[in-house]
Amino acid sequence: MRNSGLRVILGTGGTIAGKASRPGDNVGYVAGQVKVEDLLAGVPALQGVPMEVEQVDQIDSKDMHLGVWQRLLARLAHHLAREDVSGVVVTHGTDTIEETAYLVHSVLRPSKPVVFTCAMRPATALVPDGPQNLLDAVTVAGHPQAQGVVVVCAGQVHAAEHLAKVHSYRTDAFDSGDAGPLASVEEGQLRWHHGVEGVSAQAPDNGLLQRLLQAEALPRVELVTSHAGADGGVVRAMLRAGASDTSLWPQGIVVAATGNGTVHRDLAQALSEAMAKGVRVVRATRCARGRVIPDPANPIPDSAGLSPVKARLALALALLGP
Ligand code: SIN
Repeated sequence: MRNSGLRVILGTGGTIAGKASRPGDNVGYVAGQVKVEDLLAGVPALQGVPMEVEQVDQIDSKDMHLGVWQRLLARLAHHLAREDVSGVVVTHGTDTIEETAYLVHSVLRPSKPVVFTCAMRPATALVPDGPQNLLDAVTVAGHPQAQGVVVVCAGQVHAAEHLAKVHSYRTDAFDSGDAGPLASVEEGQLRWHHGVEGVSAQAPDNGLLQRLLQAEALPRVELVTSHAGADGGVVRAMLRAGASDTSLWPQGIVVAATGNGTVHRDLAQALSEAMAKGVRVVRATRCARGRVIPDPANPIPDSAGLSPVKARLALALALLGP
């Protein structure tokens, strides 16, 4: 049974490991201070659960970069291949958890559960949310029906594909948009809303994993927003900078478009100049919900339902090549 198996807990930092100088200060803290083993020691209900713990990094996730992703992917690939491991929990900051979880989903595509968790309040808060989230995440990682990459926060289980941070302060800061959460965690029990078919698990893309682990940098994919007055100046400035310094050349651009993928005509003109120079351009919607409806007649392809930040990652991975 998976729920009696070993769980590996990988710490990367975040508010869950944050410390404030004044107890009760929920905003003036430094993220990534408390070791993950100390966070686990603060959850009495986890005593006796078979676990191995590793501190992969200790970072405020707003500063996430390729080096941390490479270390995390390598450790995840290692532990997921072990027969004695039933699932892995990753503690992470809330700010870019949707990007890291989506990356792991895209590259490792695990059948075992990889459960990201986080907190909106630091470990020193009067009522920290981290301990309950950690307990819930370890529960999900050992659940016989759990699979694939999910994020557990505030009693809800979200698929990595759908999750987005939608609130800057509340402890239930996440949402799965139209898809809704996969399950709720209630007193150690999972109540499934969609069933496990909501999470796609396939064979890992070992070629992509190796290319990513060996990469010195991700292909440069920039994110621009279409808005009132968007005149395309930022796109033309990128092309000019890239012409004199090739490290700045944008291989791809994701446009966070209005509504159903519409783009200000002046920005659209600049994007078509970029496409003519070989830059790959993708349209995502800047709306919090919904997707760009596919339109084969539009010269700029849509993001297949991905949010702008996830579309940026998907395009960077595609540009890493086969
Ligand atoms: C972070 O993302 O590392 C800091 C913010 C948070 O975890 O809520």
